Amino acid sequence: MSKVIWHVTTSVDGFIAGPDDWMDWVFEHRSDGPRLADEVRETTGAILAGRGWYEGAEGRYGGAAGIYGGNWSGPVLVLTHRLDDEPNHPAVEFVGGPVEHAVAEGREAAGSGNLEIFGARVAQQCMDAGVIDEMVVHIAPVLLGDGKRLYGDPASPLVGLERIDQDGSSCRYTVQRS
Ligand SMILES: NC(=O)c1ccc[n+]([C@@H]2O[C@H](COP(=O)([O-])OP(=O)(O)OC[C@H]3O[C@@H](n4cnc5c(N)ncnc54)[C@H](OP(=O)(O)O)[C@@H]3O)[C@@H](O)[C@H]2O)c1
Repeated sequence: MSKVIWHVTTSVDGFIAGPDDWMDWVFEHRSDGPRLADEVRETTGAILAGRGWYEGAEGRYGGAAGIYGGNWSGPVLVLTHRLDDEPNHPAVEFVGGPVEHAVAEGREAAGSGNLEIFGARVAQQCMDAGVIDEMVVHIAPVLLGDGKRLYGDPASPLVGLERIDQDGSSCRYTVQRS
Protein backbone atom coordinates (compact mmCIF):
# COMPACT_ATOMS: atom_id res chain seq x y z
CA MET A 1 0.00 0.00 0.00
CA SER A 2 1.42 3.36 -0.96
CA LYS A 3 2.09 5.93 1.74
CA VAL A 4 1.85 9.65 2.32
CA ILE A 5 5.31 10.93 3.23
CA TRP A 6 6.26 14.41 4.36
CA HIS A 7 9.82 14.95 3.12
CA VAL A 8 11.50 18.02 4.48
CA THR A 9 14.82 19.62 5.32
CA THR A 10 14.91 21.76 8.45
CA SER A 11 17.49 24.03 10.02
CA VAL A 12 18.60 23.11 13.53
CA ASP A 13 16.35 25.93 14.84
CA GLY A 14 13.31 24.48 13.06
CA PHE A 15 12.82 26.49 9.88
CA ILE A 16 12.19 24.99 6.43
CA ALA A 17 12.89 28.23 4.61
CA GLY A 18 14.63 31.39 5.63
CA PRO A 19 13.15 34.88 5.42
CA ASP A 20 11.88 35.65 1.92
CA ASP A 21 11.66 31.90 1.16
CA TRP A 22 15.44 31.62 1.00
CA MET A 23 16.44 27.94 0.57
CA ASP A 24 20.02 27.92 -0.74
CA TRP A 25 21.15 26.41 2.57
CA VAL A 26 19.05 23.27 1.78
CA PHE A 27 20.95 22.69 -1.43
CA GLU A 28 24.31 23.41 0.18
CA HIS A 29 23.72 20.58 2.69
CA ARG A 30 22.09 18.15 0.28
CA SER A 31 24.86 15.56 0.72
CA ASP A 32 23.63 14.86 4.24
CA GLY A 33 21.51 11.69 4.51
CA PRO A 34 21.64 10.84 0.81
CA ARG A 35 20.36 7.28 1.24
CA LEU A 36 17.07 8.37 2.80
CA ALA A 37 16.63 11.17 0.27
CA ASP A 38 17.27 8.75 -2.59
CA GLU A 39 14.83 6.23 -1.13
CA VAL A 40 12.11 8.86 -0.94
CA ARG A 41 12.80 10.12 -4.44
CA GLU A 42 12.78 6.62 -5.93
CA THR A 43 9.45 5.69 -4.32
CA THR A 44 7.61 8.96 -5.00
CA GLY A 45 4.78 8.66 -7.51
CA ALA A 46 3.41 12.18 -7.10
CA ILE A 47 4.03 15.32 -5.05
CA LEU A 48 1.53 17.53 -3.24
CA ALA A 49 2.79 21.03 -2.51
CA GLY A 50 1.34 24.44 -1.74
CA ARG A 51 1.32 27.57 -3.81
CA GLY A 52 4.08 28.88 -1.56
CA TRP A 53 6.42 26.16 -2.78
CA TYR A 54 5.33 26.71 -6.37
CA GLU A 55 5.99 30.44 -6.30
CA GLY A 56 9.33 30.06 -4.49
CA ALA A 57 10.63 27.18 -6.58
CA GLU A 58 9.59 28.77 -9.85
CA GLY A 59 11.58 31.92 -9.34
CA ARG A 60 14.80 30.48 -7.99
CA TYR A 61 15.03 26.72 -8.14
CA GLY A 62 13.77 25.62 -11.55
CA GLY A 63 10.14 24.93 -10.56
CA ALA A 64 8.76 21.44 -11.22
CA ALA A 65 11.64 20.69 -13.59
CA GLY A 66 14.13 21.34 -10.80
CA ILE A 67 12.70 18.87 -8.27
CA TYR A 68 15.54 16.68 -6.95
CA GLY A 69 17.89 18.52 -9.25
CA GLY A 70 15.88 17.37 -12.26
CA ASN A 71 16.24 13.71 -11.25
CA TRP A 72 12.55 13.09 -10.64
CA SER A 73 9.51 13.57 -12.80
CA GLY A 74 5.83 12.94 -12.23
CA PRO A 75 2.59 14.68 -11.33
CA VAL A 76 2.92 17.70 -9.03
CA LEU A 77 -0.35 18.81 -7.44
CA VAL A 78 -0.30 22.35 -6.09
CA LEU A 79 -2.93 23.43 -3.57
CA THR A 80 -4.16 26.93 -4.30
CA HIS A 81 -7.18 29.19 -4.09
CA ARG A 82 -6.27 30.64 -7.51
CA LEU A 83 -7.53 27.77 -9.64
CA ASP A 84 -8.03 29.88 -12.77
CA ASP A 85 -4.31 30.48 -13.20
CA GLU A 86 -2.43 28.45 -15.77
CA PRO A 87 0.38 26.25 -14.34
CA ASN A 88 3.78 26.92 -15.85
CA HIS A 89 4.74 23.26 -16.37
CA PRO A 90 2.77 20.36 -17.88
CA ALA A 91 3.35 18.16 -14.81
CA VAL A 92 1.79 20.75 -12.48
CA GLU A 93 -1.93 20.68 -11.70
CA PHE A 94 -3.59 23.30 -9.51
CA VAL A 95 -6.03 21.75 -7.05
CA GLY A 96 -8.37 23.25 -4.48
CA GLY A 97 -9.03 22.24 -0.89
CA PRO A 98 -9.94 20.76 1.43
CA VAL A 99 -6.61 19.05 1.89
CA GLU A 100 -8.21 15.59 2.25
CA HIS A 101 -9.52 15.87 -1.31
CA ALA A 102 -6.13 17.00 -2.60
CA VAL A 103 -4.46 14.07 -0.83
CA ALA A 104 -6.96 11.61 -2.33
CA GLU A 105 -6.30 13.09 -5.76
CA GLY A 106 -2.55 12.95 -5.15
CA ARG A 107 -2.68 9.30 -4.08
CA GLU A 108 -4.52 8.45 -7.23
CA ALA A 109 -1.97 10.34 -9.32
CA ALA A 110 0.85 8.53 -7.48
CA GLY A 111 -0.45 5.11 -8.54
CA SER A 112 1.61 2.44 -6.80
CA GLY A 113 4.14 5.05 -5.65
CA ASN A 114 4.03 7.21 -2.54
CA LEU A 115 2.55 10.67 -2.29
CA GLU A 116 5.21 13.10 -1.11
CA ILE A 117 4.26 16.27 0.73
CA PHE A 118 6.37 19.43 0.33
CA GLY A 119 6.49 22.57 2.43
CA ALA A 120 4.96 23.35 5.81
CA ARG A 121 1.45 24.81 5.63
CA VAL A 122 0.07 22.02 3.44
CA ALA A 123 1.96 19.49 5.57
CA GLN A 124 0.43 21.01 8.71
CA GLN A 125 -3.06 20.57 7.29
CA CYS A 126 -2.22 16.98 6.32
CA MET A 127 -0.93 16.34 9.84
CA ASP A 128 -4.08 17.86 11.36
CA ALA A 129 -6.19 15.66 9.06
CA GLY A 130 -4.24 12.57 10.15
CA VAL A 131 -3.24 11.57 6.62
CA ILE A 132 0.55 11.53 6.93
CA ASP A 133 2.04 8.06 7.41
CA GLU A 134 5.72 8.96 7.62
CA MET A 135 8.09 11.91 7.88
CA VAL A 136 11.58 11.91 6.46
CA VAL A 137 13.50 14.82 7.98
CA HIS A 138 16.97 16.07 7.11
CA ILE A 139 18.54 18.41 9.68
CA ALA A 140 20.89 20.87 8.01
CA PRO A 141 23.72 22.15 10.25
CA VAL A 142 22.65 25.77 10.18
CA LEU A 143 20.77 28.25 12.39
CA LEU A 144 18.52 30.53 10.34
CA GLY A 145 17.07 32.66 13.13
CA ASP A 146 13.85 33.35 11.25
CA GLY A 147 11.71 32.04 8.41
CA LYS A 148 9.01 29.41 7.83
CA ARG A 149 8.52 27.14 10.79
CA LEU A 150 8.68 23.38 10.27
CA TYR A 151 5.57 22.75 12.29
CA GLY A 152 2.90 24.47 14.18
CA ASP A 153 1.79 27.46 16.05
CA PRO A 154 0.99 27.64 19.76
CA ALA A 155 -2.31 25.76 19.19
CA SER A 156 -0.79 22.81 17.37
CA PRO A 157 -1.30 19.46 19.04
CA LEU A 158 1.56 17.19 20.07
CA VAL A 159 2.25 14.55 17.44
CA GLY A 160 4.13 11.40 18.44
CA LEU A 161 6.78 10.10 16.05
CA GLU A 162 8.59 6.77 16.06
CA ARG A 163 12.01 6.73 14.44
CA ILE A 164 12.31 3.74 12.12
CA ASP A 165 15.48 4.62 10.19
CA GLN A 166 18.44 6.98 10.47
CA ASP A 167 21.26 8.05 8.16
CA GLY A 168 23.51 10.67 9.68
CA SER A 169 21.31 13.55 10.83
CA SER A 170 18.43 12.37 8.62
CA CYS A 171 15.62 10.28 10.10
CA ARG A 172 12.54 8.47 8.93
CA TYR A 173 9.64 8.46 11.38
CA THR A 174 6.21 6.89 11.42
CA VAL A 175 3.48 9.22 12.66
CA GLN A 176 1.67 7.92 15.73
CA ARG A 177 -2.06 8.39 15.47
CA SER A 178 -4.00 8.75 18.70
N1 LIG B 1 13.02 22.83 3.41
C1 LIG B 1 12.26 22.07 2.64
O1 LIG B 1 12.42 20.84 2.61
C2 LIG B 1 11.19 22.70 1.80
C3 LIG B 1 10.45 21.90 0.95
C4 LIG B 1 9.46 22.50 0.17
C5 LIG B 1 9.24 23.85 0.27
N2 LIG B 1 9.99 24.60 1.11
C6 LIG B 1 9.76 26.04 1.25
O2 LIG B 1 8.63 26.22 2.04
C7 LIG B 1 7.98 27.44 1.66
C8 LIG B 1 6.54 27.13 1.26
O3 LIG B 1 5.92 26.51 2.31
P1 LIG B 1 4.71 27.20 3.06
O4 LIG B 1 4.41 26.31 4.17
O5 LIG B 1 5.04 28.61 3.35
O6 LIG B 1 3.59 27.29 1.99
P2 LIG B 1 2.93 26.18 1.10
O7 LIG B 1 2.33 25.12 1.94
O8 LIG B 1 3.87 25.78 0.02
O9 LIG B 1 1.81 27.07 0.39
C9 LIG B 1 0.83 27.77 1.10
C10 LIG B 1 -0.16 28.27 0.08
O10 LIG B 1 -0.78 27.16 -0.58
C11 LIG B 1 -2.17 27.43 -0.80
N3 LIG B 1 -2.96 26.54 0.06
C12 LIG B 1 -2.54 25.89 1.17
N4 LIG B 1 -3.53 25.16 1.68
C13 LIG B 1 -4.60 25.34 0.87
C14 LIG B 1 -5.92 24.84 0.87
N5 LIG B 1 -6.34 23.99 1.81
N6 LIG B 1 -6.75 25.23 -0.12
C15 LIG B 1 -6.34 26.06 -1.10
N7 LIG B 1 -5.08 26.57 -1.15
C16 LIG B 1 -4.23 26.21 -0.17
C17 LIG B 1 -2.38 28.88 -0.40
O11 LIG B 1 -2.04 29.63 -1.57
P3 LIG B 1 -2.99 30.72 -2.28
O12 LIG B 1 -4.12 31.06 -1.34
O13 LIG B 1 -2.07 31.83 -2.53
O14 LIG B 1 -3.47 30.09 -3.54
C18 LIG B 1 -1.32 29.08 0.67
O15 LIG B 1 -0.95 30.42 0.83
C19 LIG B 1 8.72 27.98 0.48
O16 LIG B 1 9.66 28.90 0.95
C20 LIG B 1 9.43 26.75 -0.03
O17 LIG B 1 10.55 27.05 -0.79
C21 LIG B 1 10.96 24.05 1.89
